[in-house]
Amino acid sequence: MAGGYDLVVIGGGPGGYVAAIRAAQLGLKAACVEKRAALGGTCLNVGCIPSKALLDSSELYQLARSRFGRHGIRVGEVGLDLPAMLRRKDEVVKGLTDGIAHLLKKNRITSVQGTGRLEGPGKVSVTGPDGKTTTLEGRALLLATGSEPTPLPFLPFDGEHVVSSTEALAFPKVPEHLIVVGGGYIGLELGSVWARLGAKVTVLEFLPRILALSDVELAGMVQKALQKQGLTFHLETKVTGHAREDDGVTVRAEAHGKEQTFRGDRVLVAVGRRPYSEGLGLAEAGVALDRGGRVVVDEAFQTSVPGVYAIGDLIAGPMLAHKASEEGIAVAERLAGQKTHVNYATIPSVIYTHPELASVGLTEEQVKADGRAYRVGKFPFGASGRARCLDEAEGVVKVLTDARTDRILGVHILGPRASDLIAECVLAMEYAASAEDIARTCHAHPTLSEAVGEAARAAWSAALHS
Ligand code: NAI
Repeated sequence: MAGGYDLVVIGGGPGGYVAAIRAAQLGLKAACVEKRAALGGTCLNVGCIPSKALLDSSELYQLARSRFGRHGIRVGEVGLDLPAMLRRKDEVVKGLTDGIAHLLKKNRITSVQGTGRLEGPGKVSVTGPDGKTTTLEGRALLLATGSEPTPLPFLPFDGEHVVSSTEALAFPKVPEHLIVVGGGYIGLELGSVWARLGAKVTVLEFLPRILALSDVELAGMVQKALQKQGLTFHLETKVTGHAREDDGVTVRAEAHGKEQTFRGDRVLVAVGRRPYSEGLGLAEAGVALDRGGRVVVDEAFQTSVPGVYAIGDLIAGPMLAHKASEEGIAVAERLAGQKTHVNYATIPSVIYTHPELASVGLTEEQVKADGRAYRVGKFPFGASGRARCLDEAEGVVKVLTDARTDRILGVHILGPRASDLIAECVLAMEYAASAEDIARTCHAHPTLSEAVGEAARAAWSAALHS
């Protein structure tokens, strides 16, 4: 038995490992239990990082094939070396997961490989890869085991033809026809990767729109942009079954009261993720779950069992790595006596399509539903000098403000490097800024960030360049 920890974390993803590091920085003795050989969780191993590595590589491939000419660059025939592309992705992942192991060591955190399970107050048993079990004792236990892809009972994963995002990050060859079930984050990102690499991609979405939680106007613009890139969308199309054939799959769906079939060689099912708590011993320990299977926590992230905390995809809220990290930091700082809280109103979200869609705060639909008077300021990237230099002039910045106070309520950016541009808006909202505050902030010229300044100016008064 290894005892005396202030914090024992189960799960080494961006929620768990960050909590352990922050706890150690504040002088607490921490241990982190992770069942994978590599730290970093879904995000680093089979999520955010490998998907972005492939999105970046496939974007360069697409650029070299179809847009270098516009820059006056002549290249010979551009070819695809998929094994090399996948290898680079794996190297990026390896470098980063090794980096986390190094960070844990540097912070003197005990890293234990194995499957953790709650074993009564303050105790976690860990079954290692060799089958041996050890027990860790901690003043506080933190559950950070994340989520797993939600399967469809009538279209179960087979790991080869009907797959989750994990396998779709490593197809050994470019599919001829990839059917994507679900027009959400994963479907659009991985659909984009394989479309750029030459696959025919068909997205089947149950709802009348893609990206259900995004601003309607900008989600529509994403769909148009992806259609131009060759993706096909079938909305209001509910997948109901499938038939396996030698060289592919036929997916059955109901659309507008009629049955339709779609035949492809690979099917990516991306209809959401569900909390992953198998084998954690939650029921036996008395940890309460909500109806969606998420762990119920109070404002201090404590579960129904005193001393047991939970964060990230296991609890309510958006399933985003940075949200989990924020919660992990809050738990660690609270254990160290600080009063940290997480501001859920300013958690950004990004969809890494081309162009990228980044958002913070309320959508226009949410502002309308609130019934308050609001203003919209928009600035198109077509009017940005830098975006034109980059040949990346598609998209818009949209700033929503309270008409009475000018306070920023939400910002939605579709465009080049939207993922980075949103940071300024998150900071502004964190400081309860007005659109005038951003408009009066000097933005370097010529940069993409000027589009944010101009959209804020448009909401507050009037844009100068549109
Ligand atoms: P999602 O919730 O984003 O989208 C799932 C979509 O599937 C929804 O639009 C839903 O209406 C549709 N759907 C459900 N059942 C269906 C059916 N039977 N037929 C057709 N369509 C159906 O879920 P997704 O894409 O699987 O991603 C899971 C989570 O992972 C997301 O909630 C997101 O938080 C996270 N993620 C975040 C990323 C990022 O931050 N860039 C990237 C990838 C994932």
